[in-house]
Amino acid sequence: MNIVKPGPNDACWCGSGKKYKKCHQPRDLVNQLSSVEAQGASNPHPVRPGKVSPRRSVPDNVPRPDYALRADGRPGARIKDVIKNAGQIARMRSACQAARAVLDRCIAAVRPGITTDELDAVAHQAYLDLGGYPSTLGYCGYPKSICTSVNEVICHGIPDDRQLQEGDIVNLDVTIYLDGMHGDCSETVAVGQVDAASLQLIETTRACLLAGIGAVRPGGMVRDIGKAIVAVAEPRGYGVVRAFVGHGIGEQFHMDPQVPHYYDPGSTFVLRPGQTFTIEPMINQGSWKHRSWDDGWTAVTADLKRSAQHEHTVLVTERGVEILTLPAGSPQPFPH
Ligand code: MF3
Ligand code: CO
Ligand code: CO
Repeated sequence: MNIVKPGPNDACWCGSGKKYKKCHQPRDLVNQLSSVEAQGASNPHPVRPGKVSPRRSVPDNVPRPDYALRADGRPGARIKDVIKNAGQIARMRSACQAARAVLDRCIAAVRPGITTDELDAVAHQAYLDLGGYPSTLGYCGYPKSICTSVNEVICHGIPDDRQLQEGDIVNLDVTIYLDGMHGDCSETVAVGQVDAASLQLIETTRACLLAGIGAVRPGGMVRDIGKAIVAVAEPRGYGVVRAFVGHGIGEQFHMDPQVPHYYDPGSTFVLRPGQTFTIEPMINQGSWKHRSWDDGWTAVTADLKRSAQHEHTVLVTERGVEILTLPAGSPQPFPH
């Protein structure tokens, strides 16, 4: 588009006689972004919604969270107490280790040509093999057992019949309900050979997650986490997604506290030993802004540039922080 735009106080281009700022300027500002999207200036091959397979079943003997028994999938009574006792922490450890095991099985299955629905099937079987329930299945109406977020999809991508292509990046987000607890983790991985900028995005996002975790200490505040993340992402020119946050987790999938990945001075929730929550930064190659698909779930970058995410569930300890969703045998990177 190469039209000369009027200044805010000039007459509007539409001939109304009104000042541009009082007439079409607000609408034009909104449309600037959507015209970039329509032209696909930065992304000639955006991800499109595909065909979603019928809902997979879970045997009746697998214990399920309350929302999975309700038609609307909405969770029931909220738990206020966010400090877990030793028994709850032990159950969190086993749920989180199981989530990691499912995630590792999904990652091992990633290859050019596999559909995201086939990855959902791999995950679904892995949950059942461990005696767990796929936490996302039926959660507020979500139809699948994992989220698969490809390229410019920020989060909550629904597995469908789209085949992964060499050069794609894909986030696999796994949550299991096991022993009465949810364990939640995700990784973004490359599909075959990907361009250098995508590798750098994935690695920066990993550095953001680690920086956020490293900011966790008893007596600290939730806002320390986002502050540490933006300090890694923003100097390198990346956008930090604001619309989706980490969350307290345990008997409930999503509970207090909310964990922004940007610096929010108002996030003064104080960290205490026994709290468990996720940190799951979504980092964009361009703008931090998002758009939602009309499937009600999929969030994509507003500029259609790529986005990556890594997620761990962590426990605040007396000495620092323990990552609950590390692969078995991996050393803890921080005092715990
Ligand atoms: N696992 C996602 C998270 O990290 C939540 C997905 S909720 C869903 O919080 F309904 F979209 F699946
Ligand atoms: Co998750
Ligand atoms: Co999460």
